[in-house]
Amino acid sequence: MIEPFEKDGTLVKRSRTEIERDVGTYTVIEHDGVIFACAALYPYPEARTAEMAALTVSPQVQSQGDGERVLKRIEQRAKLAGLDSIFVLTTRTMHWFIKRGFEQVDHEWLPEARKRKYNWDRKSRVLVKNVS
Ligand SMILES: CC(C)(COP(=O)(O)OP(=O)(O)OC[C@H]1O[C@@H](n2cnc3c(N)ncnc32)[C@H](O)[C@@H]1OP(=O)(O)O)[C@@H](O)C(=O)NCCC(=O)NCCS
Repeated sequence: MIEPFEKDGTLVKRSRTEIERDVGTYTVIEHDGVIFACAALYPYPEARTAEMAALTVSPQVQSQGDGERVLKRIEQRAKLAGLDSIFVLTTRTMHWFIKRGFEQVDHEWLPEARKRKYNWDRKSRVLVKNVS
């Protein structure tokens, strides 16, 4: 489900090993055993925040609210974990996030550990949403 969006550059490439290693960080929506939407949540507890990554809805069911449902579940998970906010790095979908309460911040805002991994070639925008 993620692969076509890696190929067109919307999402950063993740290996199968990486996804299997991190599978516990994913929230999914499934209908009749088929996954239609997902997102991962990577916490940075020292900064009381977490990154939502790889948010994807299958093309055949886009624009039917699954993206928003995944976001709500991710927000709940972050809140239950005692975090103050979630953030995303995006190159193409800024409008979708802004409409759902995210605000753009400078990349300097990122937790130190995430800043070190920031890919300057992608020039992603950093968007933050309060969940507390
Ligand atoms: C962006 C995305 C997660 C939204 O999920 P969704 O279930 O389609 O969206 P929802 O039904 O919750 O919301 C509908 C809105 O999404 C917009 N939308 C639908 N497909 C979209 C797409 N491919 N890219 C951007 N926005 C999209 C609709 O126009 C609608 O906009 P509106 O709120 O202004 O009316 C989903 O379209 C997707 O997987 N896109 C490709 C991967 C991607 O861009 N991920 C984010 C990377 S940071």
